[in-house]
Amino acid sequence: KGKRAFVAGVADDNGYGWAIAKSLAAAGAEILVGTWVPALNIFESSLRRGKFDESRVLPDGSLMEITKVYPLDAVFDTLEDVPEDVKSNKRYAGSSNWTVAEVVESVKKDFGSIDILVHSLANGPEVTKPLLETSRKGYLAALSASSYSYISLLKHFLPIINPGGSSISLTYIASERIIPGYGGGMSSAKAALESDTRVLAFEAGRKQRVRVNTISAGPLRSRAAKAIGFIDMMIDYSLANAPLQKELSAEEVGNTAAFLASPLASAITGAVVYVDNGLNAMGVGV
Ligand code: NAI
Repeated sequence: KGKRAFVAGVADDNGYGWAIAKSLAAAGAEILVGTWVPALNIFESSLRRGKFDESRVLPDGSLMEITKVYPLDAVFDTLEDVPEDVKSNKRYAGSSNWTVAEVVESVKKDFGSIDILVHSLANGPEVTKPLLETSRKGYLAALSASSYSYISLLKHFLPIINPGGSSISLTYIASERIIPGYGGGMSSAKAALESDTRVLAFEAGRKQRVRVNTISAGPLRSRAAKAIGFIDMMIDYSLANAPLQKELSAEEVGNTAAFLASPLASAITGAVVYVDNGLNAMGVGV
Protein backbone atom coordinates (compact mmCIF):
# COMPACT_ATOMS: atom_id res chain seq x y z
CA LYS A 1 0.00 0.00 0.00
CA GLY A 2 1.20 3.52 -0.77
CA LYS A 3 2.52 5.70 2.01
CA ARG A 4 1.20 9.10 3.01
CA ALA A 5 3.56 11.98 3.80
CA PHE A 6 2.98 15.34 5.48
CA VAL A 7 5.63 17.86 4.44
CA ALA A 8 5.68 20.99 6.61
CA GLY A 9 7.41 24.03 5.11
CA VAL A 10 6.50 24.20 1.42
CA ALA A 11 5.58 27.63 0.03
CA ASP A 12 7.23 27.61 -3.40
CA ASP A 13 9.16 25.28 -5.71
CA ASN A 14 12.65 26.47 -4.74
CA GLY A 15 13.21 24.95 -1.30
CA TYR A 16 14.11 21.59 0.17
CA GLY A 17 10.50 20.88 1.19
CA TRP A 18 9.32 20.93 -2.43
CA ALA A 19 12.20 18.69 -3.55
CA ILE A 20 11.50 16.22 -0.74
CA ALA A 21 7.81 16.15 -1.65
CA LYS A 22 8.78 15.38 -5.24
CA SER A 23 11.14 12.54 -4.34
CA LEU A 24 8.53 11.03 -2.03
CA ALA A 25 5.87 11.38 -4.76
CA ALA A 26 8.21 9.76 -7.29
CA ALA A 27 8.56 6.84 -4.87
CA GLY A 28 4.77 6.49 -4.78
CA ALA A 29 3.79 8.44 -1.67
CA GLU A 30 0.66 10.56 -1.37
CA ILE A 31 1.65 14.16 -0.55
CA LEU A 32 0.07 16.54 1.95
CA VAL A 33 1.81 19.83 2.64
CA GLY A 34 1.75 22.39 5.44
CA THR A 35 2.23 25.96 4.20
CA TRP A 36 3.03 28.96 6.40
CA VAL A 37 -0.18 31.00 6.73
CA PRO A 38 1.20 34.30 5.36
CA ALA A 39 2.44 32.46 2.24
CA LEU A 40 -0.69 30.35 1.71
CA ASN A 41 -2.63 32.46 -0.79
CA ILE A 42 0.22 33.03 -3.18
CA PHE A 43 1.30 29.37 -2.99
CA GLU A 44 -2.19 28.02 -3.64
CA SER A 45 -2.95 30.44 -6.45
CA SER A 46 0.42 29.79 -8.11
CA LEU A 47 -0.24 26.06 -7.86
CA ARG A 48 -3.72 26.49 -9.37
CA ARG A 49 -2.53 28.77 -12.15
CA GLY A 50 0.07 26.20 -13.20
CA LYS A 51 3.07 28.32 -12.23
CA PHE A 52 4.79 25.25 -10.73
CA ASP A 53 3.83 22.78 -13.45
CA GLU A 54 7.33 22.61 -14.90
CA SER A 55 8.77 21.80 -11.47
CA ARG A 56 6.02 19.28 -10.80
CA VAL A 57 7.29 16.89 -13.48
CA LEU A 58 8.38 13.54 -11.99
CA PRO A 59 10.95 11.18 -13.56
CA ASP A 60 8.15 9.13 -15.20
CA GLY A 61 6.76 12.26 -16.88
CA SER A 62 3.68 12.58 -14.68
CA LEU A 63 3.02 15.64 -12.49
CA MET A 64 3.35 15.54 -8.71
CA GLU A 65 -0.09 15.76 -7.13
CA ILE A 66 -0.46 17.55 -3.82
CA THR A 67 -3.57 15.97 -2.33
CA LYS A 68 -4.15 18.79 0.15
CA VAL A 69 -2.51 22.01 1.31
CA TYR A 70 -2.96 22.80 5.01
CA PRO A 71 -2.33 26.30 6.36
CA LEU A 72 0.16 26.01 9.23
CA ASP A 73 1.96 28.24 11.68
CA ALA A 74 4.28 25.97 13.62
CA VAL A 75 5.06 28.52 16.34
CA PHE A 76 1.57 28.01 17.78
CA ASP A 77 0.52 24.70 19.33
CA THR A 78 -3.15 25.47 20.03
CA LEU A 79 -5.57 28.31 19.38
CA GLU A 80 -5.15 29.44 23.02
CA ASP A 81 -1.49 30.24 22.24
CA VAL A 82 -2.34 32.74 19.50
CA PRO A 83 -2.12 36.41 20.53
CA GLU A 84 -4.90 38.84 19.53
CA ASP A 85 -2.83 40.77 16.99
CA VAL A 86 -2.12 37.59 15.04
CA LYS A 87 -5.73 36.38 15.29
CA SER A 88 -6.99 39.65 13.84
CA ASN A 89 -4.23 39.93 11.21
CA LYS A 90 -5.88 39.90 7.80
CA ARG A 91 -3.81 37.05 6.43
CA TYR A 92 -4.39 34.85 9.47
CA ALA A 93 -8.06 35.69 9.88
CA GLY A 94 -8.63 34.55 6.28
CA SER A 95 -7.97 30.90 7.14
CA SER A 96 -8.51 28.68 10.15
CA ASN A 97 -7.24 25.59 11.97
CA TRP A 98 -3.57 26.40 11.36
CA THR A 99 -2.08 25.76 14.80
CA VAL A 100 -0.14 22.51 15.10
CA ALA A 101 -2.78 20.68 17.14
CA GLU A 102 -5.55 21.80 14.78
CA VAL A 103 -3.64 20.81 11.64
CA VAL A 104 -3.03 17.34 13.03
CA GLU A 105 -6.71 17.08 13.99
CA SER A 106 -7.67 18.01 10.40
CA VAL A 107 -5.25 15.49 8.88
CA LYS A 108 -6.64 12.84 11.20
CA LYS A 109 -10.19 13.69 10.17
CA ASP A 110 -9.30 13.77 6.45
CA PHE A 111 -6.98 10.77 6.18
CA GLY A 112 -6.76 8.92 9.51
CA SER A 113 -3.01 8.44 9.55
CA ILE A 114 0.32 9.26 7.91
CA ASP A 115 3.57 7.33 7.46
CA ILE A 116 6.11 10.10 6.90
CA LEU A 117 6.52 13.46 8.62
CA VAL A 118 8.90 16.03 7.12
CA HIS A 119 9.88 19.27 8.90
CA SER A 120 11.44 21.62 6.36
CA LEU A 121 10.99 24.99 8.02
CA ALA A 122 13.01 27.52 9.92
CA ASN A 123 12.76 31.15 10.85
CA GLY A 124 15.10 33.47 12.72
CA PRO A 125 13.99 37.11 12.75
CA GLU A 126 17.53 38.26 13.68
CA VAL A 127 19.44 35.80 11.46
CA THR A 128 21.56 38.59 9.97
CA LYS A 129 22.79 39.68 13.44
CA PRO A 130 25.85 38.11 15.07
CA LEU A 131 25.06 36.04 18.18
CA LEU A 132 26.62 38.70 20.40
CA GLU A 133 24.09 41.21 19.08
CA THR A 134 21.06 38.91 19.18
CA SER A 135 18.24 39.86 21.54
CA ARG A 136 16.63 37.38 23.92
CA LYS A 137 13.41 37.77 21.95
CA GLY A 138 15.11 37.06 18.62
CA TYR A 139 16.99 34.06 20.00
CA LEU A 140 13.87 32.51 21.51
CA ALA A 141 11.91 33.19 18.31
CA ALA A 142 14.56 31.30 16.30
CA LEU A 143 14.37 28.34 18.68
CA SER A 144 10.56 28.42 18.69
CA ALA A 145 10.16 28.46 14.91
CA SER A 146 13.12 26.26 14.01
CA SER A 147 13.49 23.75 16.87
CA TYR A 148 10.46 23.50 19.11
CA SER A 149 8.25 23.52 16.01
CA TYR A 150 9.66 20.08 15.26
CA ILE A 151 9.06 18.72 18.75
CA SER A 152 5.50 20.04 18.57
CA LEU A 153 4.80 18.59 15.11
CA LEU A 154 6.18 15.17 16.07
CA LYS A 155 4.43 15.16 19.43
CA HIS A 156 1.05 15.92 17.87
CA PHE A 157 1.47 13.71 14.80
CA LEU A 158 2.98 10.70 16.60
CA PRO A 159 -0.33 9.10 17.61
CA ILE A 160 -1.38 9.01 13.93
CA ILE A 161 2.00 7.99 12.42
CA ASN A 162 1.75 4.33 11.51
CA PRO A 163 4.28 2.08 13.30
CA GLY A 164 7.35 1.70 11.11
CA GLY A 165 6.93 5.32 10.01
CA SER A 166 9.64 7.89 9.68
CA SER A 167 10.25 11.53 10.53
CA ILE A 168 12.84 13.82 8.95
CA SER A 169 14.04 17.38 9.52
CA LEU A 170 16.61 19.63 7.84
CA THR A 171 19.65 20.98 9.64
CA TYR A 172 22.83 22.89 8.82
CA ILE A 173 26.51 22.46 9.75
CA ALA A 174 26.48 25.85 11.54
CA SER A 175 25.24 23.84 14.56
CA GLU A 176 28.69 22.33 15.08
CA ARG A 177 31.19 24.53 13.21
CA ILE A 178 31.49 28.30 13.10
CA ILE A 179 29.66 29.74 10.08
CA PRO A 180 29.90 33.53 10.45
CA GLY A 181 26.70 35.10 9.11
CA TYR A 182 24.33 32.35 10.29
CA GLY A 183 23.28 34.43 13.27
CA GLY A 184 20.32 35.37 15.39
CA GLY A 185 20.49 32.10 17.31
CA MET A 186 19.95 30.03 14.15
CA SER A 187 23.19 28.12 14.82
CA SER A 188 21.86 27.41 18.33
CA ALA A 189 18.49 26.36 16.90
CA LYS A 190 20.14 23.79 14.61
CA ALA A 191 22.26 22.46 17.51
CA ALA A 192 19.05 21.95 19.50
CA LEU A 193 17.35 20.29 16.51
CA GLU A 194 20.21 17.79 16.14
CA SER A 195 20.30 16.95 19.83
CA ASP A 196 16.52 16.62 19.88
CA THR A 197 16.75 14.26 16.89
CA ARG A 198 18.61 11.76 19.10
CA VAL A 199 16.29 12.08 22.11
CA LEU A 200 13.15 12.01 19.94
CA ALA A 201 14.51 8.95 18.09
CA PHE A 202 14.62 7.15 21.43
CA GLU A 203 11.21 8.30 22.61
CA ALA A 204 9.34 7.88 19.29
CA GLY A 205 11.14 4.59 18.61
CA ARG A 206 10.12 3.08 21.91
CA LYS A 207 6.62 4.52 21.86
CA GLN A 208 5.58 3.96 18.28
CA ARG A 209 8.43 2.32 16.33
CA VAL A 210 8.88 5.59 14.42
CA ARG A 211 12.37 6.56 13.19
CA VAL A 212 13.68 10.12 13.59
CA ASN A 213 16.55 11.48 11.50
CA THR A 214 17.84 14.82 10.28
CA ILE A 215 19.57 15.75 7.03
CA SER A 216 22.44 18.21 7.30
CA ALA A 217 22.13 19.81 3.90
CA GLY A 218 24.60 21.89 1.94
CA PRO A 219 23.74 25.37 0.66
CA LEU A 220 20.71 25.85 -1.62
CA ARG A 221 19.43 29.14 -3.09
CA SER A 222 15.98 28.90 -1.45
CA ARG A 223 13.79 31.81 -0.45
CA ALA A 224 14.83 31.42 3.21
CA ALA A 225 18.53 31.19 2.33
CA LYS A 226 18.40 34.30 0.17
CA ALA A 227 17.01 36.20 3.17
CA ILE A 228 20.16 35.34 5.16
CA GLY A 229 22.22 37.14 2.54
CA PHE A 230 25.36 34.99 2.15
CA ILE A 231 24.03 32.06 0.15
CA ASP A 232 25.96 32.74 -3.07
CA MET A 233 29.19 32.92 -1.08
CA MET A 234 28.41 29.59 0.64
CA ILE A 235 27.64 27.92 -2.70
CA ASP A 236 30.92 29.23 -4.17
CA TYR A 237 32.82 28.14 -1.05
CA SER A 238 31.41 24.63 -1.30
CA LEU A 239 32.18 24.45 -5.01
CA ALA A 240 35.78 25.45 -4.32
CA ASN A 241 36.41 23.32 -1.22
CA ALA A 242 34.14 20.26 -1.03
CA PRO A 243 35.40 16.80 -2.03
CA LEU A 244 32.72 16.75 -4.77
CA GLN A 245 33.08 19.93 -6.81
CA LYS A 246 29.56 20.25 -8.17
CA GLU A 247 26.57 22.35 -7.27
CA LEU A 248 24.25 20.60 -4.83
CA SER A 249 20.76 20.05 -6.20
CA ALA A 250 17.68 20.03 -3.99
CA GLU A 251 16.79 16.71 -5.60
CA GLU A 252 19.83 15.07 -3.98
CA VAL A 253 18.45 16.05 -0.58
CA GLY A 254 14.97 14.92 -1.65
CA ASN A 255 16.28 11.53 -2.68
CA THR A 256 18.06 11.09 0.66
CA ALA A 257 14.81 11.91 2.45
CA ALA A 258 13.01 9.30 0.33
CA PHE A 259 15.68 6.76 1.25
CA LEU A 260 15.47 7.61 4.96
CA ALA A 261 11.67 7.28 4.83
CA SER A 262 11.86 3.91 3.08
CA PRO A 263 12.35 0.39 4.45
CA LEU A 264 15.89 0.55 2.99
CA ALA A 265 16.74 2.69 6.04
CA SER A 266 14.89 0.52 8.56
CA ALA A 267 17.79 0.48 11.05
CA ILE A 268 18.69 4.17 10.77
CA THR A 269 17.38 6.42 13.52
CA GLY A 270 18.78 9.27 15.61
CA ALA A 271 21.19 10.10 12.78
CA VAL A 272 22.49 13.32 11.29
CA VAL A 273 22.97 12.46 7.60
CA TYR A 274 25.18 14.86 5.61
CA VAL A 275 24.05 15.67 2.10
CA ASP A 276 26.57 18.36 1.27
CA ASN A 277 29.00 17.00 -1.34
CA GLY A 278 31.21 16.03 1.63
CA LEU A 279 32.03 19.58 2.71
CA ASN A 280 31.54 18.67 6.40
CA ALA A 281 34.52 16.34 6.27
CA MET A 282 37.01 19.06 5.28
CA GLY A 283 39.25 20.60 7.95
CA VAL A 284 40.61 23.46 5.87
CA GLY A 285 39.69 25.04 2.58
CA VAL A 286 41.99 24.19 -0.31
P1 NAI B 1 12.32 27.56 2.22
O1 NAI B 1 12.09 29.02 2.24
O2 NAI B 1 11.93 26.80 0.99
O3 NAI B 1 11.60 26.83 3.44
C1 NAI B 1 11.37 27.40 4.69
C2 NAI B 1 9.87 27.37 4.90
O4 NAI B 1 9.55 27.61 6.26
C3 NAI B 1 9.13 28.41 4.08
O5 NAI B 1 8.19 27.77 3.25
C4 NAI B 1 8.43 29.25 5.14
O6 NAI B 1 7.18 29.71 4.69
C5 NAI B 1 8.30 28.24 6.26
N1 NAI B 1 8.06 28.79 7.60
C6 NAI B 1 8.73 29.77 8.24
N2 NAI B 1 8.19 29.99 9.46
C7 NAI B 1 7.17 29.11 9.59
C8 NAI B 1 6.21 28.85 10.61
N3 NAI B 1 6.21 29.53 11.76
N4 NAI B 1 5.29 27.88 10.41
C9 NAI B 1 5.27 27.18 9.26
N5 NAI B 1 6.14 27.38 8.25
C10 NAI B 1 7.08 28.34 8.42
O7 NAI B 1 13.87 27.38 2.54
P2 NAI B 1 14.81 26.10 2.72
O8 NAI B 1 16.17 26.67 2.72
O9 NAI B 1 14.49 25.04 1.78
O10 NAI B 1 14.51 25.63 4.20
C11 NAI B 1 14.02 24.35 4.57
C12 NAI B 1 14.87 23.76 5.68
O11 NAI B 1 16.16 23.48 5.16
C13 NAI B 1 15.08 24.70 6.87
O12 NAI B 1 15.05 23.96 8.07
C14 NAI B 1 16.49 25.22 6.62
O13 NAI B 1 17.12 25.66 7.81
C15 NAI B 1 17.13 23.95 6.07
N6 NAI B 1 18.42 24.13 5.41
C16 NAI B 1 18.55 24.99 4.34
C17 NAI B 1 19.78 25.16 3.73
C18 NAI B 1 19.92 26.08 2.54
O14 NAI B 1 21.05 26.40 2.14
N7 NAI B 1 18.84 26.53 1.94
C19 NAI B 1 20.98 24.45 4.19
C20 NAI B 1 20.73 23.54 5.29
C21 NAI B 1 19.50 23.41 5.88
